[in-house]
Amino acid sequence: MKVSVIGAGNVGASTCYLLIAKEICKNVILVDINHSIAQGKATDLQQASIALVSETRIKTSSDYKDIENSDIIVITAGVPRRENMSREDLLGTNIKIINEIVSNIKKFAPNAIIVTVSNPLDIMNYAVLKLSGFQRSKVIGMGGILDSARMTHAIIKRLDDKSELVRACVIGAHGEQMLPLLSHSFVGKKSVSELFDEHICKEIINDTKLGGAKIVKFLQTSAYYAPAAAISILIEAILKDKKETLPCSVYLEGEYDISGVSIGVPVLIGKNGVETIKQLSLDAKELEVLHIAALELKEQIKIADRVLKENI
Ligand code: APR
Repeated sequence: MKVSVIGAGNVGASTCYLLIAKEICKNVILVDINHSIAQGKATDLQQASIALVSETRIKTSSDYKDIENSDIIVITAGVPRRENMSREDLLGTNIKIINEIVSNIKKFAPNAIIVTVSNPLDIMNYAVLKLSGFQRSKVIGMGGILDSARMTHAIIKRLDDKSELVRACVIGAHGEQMLPLLSHSFVGKKSVSELFDEHICKEIINDTKLGGAKIVKFLQTSAYYAPAAAISILIEAILKDKKETLPCSVYLEGEYDISGVSIGVPVLIGKNGVETIKQLSLDAKELEVLHIAALELKEQIKIADRVLKENI
């Protein structure tokens, strides 16, 4: 099994580290426009692999040819968020980077499954799909797994008994319009909406939505350990054909009455990528939030299409 990671920055390198530590695949290729960074990180990671007695081997390459025969390609290249910068602000810069990367994936690894991580996630995943021409089941945006981990964190903080099993579910856009689903998130067998009063539920939603921005404020750059953890879960689900339900950004063709955008919904992940799109029963308010998010994404897609037209 071979995974190529494009972008040797914080998220890309942390992802490689987890692939090695968890021995998720046999080979990892790390590619970055900055060869020196990629070389330095790959050497450090090779030594980590040896120290951990891991069977996973990593190497860097300045030639995209080396991504040939990759089962999965993770795109983490781009510019990360700085303080007071929305994920949308990144659109113009990152879409040009995505365009260049996708043309190489098409050339050298046309059968790979692509995991999109660069922000703004849903727009980048849409762009990867359109630019690659791949089936929608093979172009997956990693956003919901991370947002759900952040919601789980917000719930656990408010529990007296921290040993209880918490499973949170966040769908929708990977941004301000995300939809933390109180009725589909559970502490043991109780839903979060049953367990907490309205005030705490609002706090949980707020903490979830601001989870990423809070880290940006501290670090002056965006998060990477939790994003890398979420990427590793998605890669593992694909390579081990786990048939696991995970919230991911996928291109919708009528599901949830939405078409023409990539947005977070629960999907069954296995060796073919997205095997099924799950239809959750949502109440009218939740559906409205999802539809508003889709409309906003459509507006951003117009910007993305314009940038691509001007630059290709
Ligand atoms: N090809 C390959 N690598 C590129 C290219 C390109 N055209 N352009 C930029 N890069 C590389 C940079 O050289 C850098 O090493 O992408 C890497 C990005 O790393 P960081 O700046 O550390 O950003 P990171 O925190 O890893 O975030 C990457 O993931 O979560 C998202 O919002 C985040 O869009 C951002 C992406």
